[in-house]
Amino acid sequence: MQVKKINLNSEFVLYNSKNELPPEVKSLMESAEKARNKAYAPYSNFLVGAAVHLENGKIITGNNQENAAYPSGICAERTAVFYASSKYPNQKILQMAIIAGPKNKPAFSPISPCGACRQVLAEYEIKQNNPIELYFMGTEGEVAYSKSIKNILPLLYTGKML
Ligand code: THU
Repeated sequence: MQVKKINLNSEFVLYNSKNELPPEVKSLMESAEKARNKAYAPYSNFLVGAAVHLENGKIITGNNQENAAYPSGICAERTAVFYASSKYPNQKILQMAIIAGPKNKPAFSPISPCGACRQVLAEYEIKQNNPIELYFMGTEGEVAYSKSIKNILPLLYTGKML
């Protein structure tokens, strides 16, 4: 029997801290951090902030918004990109920064976006035909960089499959 073996790779760059990021990315991460401080997460006490940099120079932020009916809540990343796309539907998303961790204790490792957010981000990446660069971190320490969303969502499901 002949079988094919397929290997899918994800590549990341790790910065030691946000201070090592290019200045405009550091500033984007700081916008995400400010947004994180306004998250509404009374059930999980896990606060997430996201900031996107659009082609027109606008910075749009979002944070997680929870609800007593748990699945009705939404992640920070989707809050940010849904707002960006609703307000500036034709502006490419160049970069996204994400900072996440529990409310009252530091998180030292980068925290990557959940699967649902990767799926949503991937759709915009395909729509705009341009990669979305992603920077994500815990509350402290290393920042991971991914050159695109596809890089962190191998075998993505797309509208072409419908
Ligand atoms: N959360 C995000 O905002 N982004 C993610 O990518 C992962 C999870 C939020 C959802 C929920 O409000 C809390 O973090 C705990 O899962």
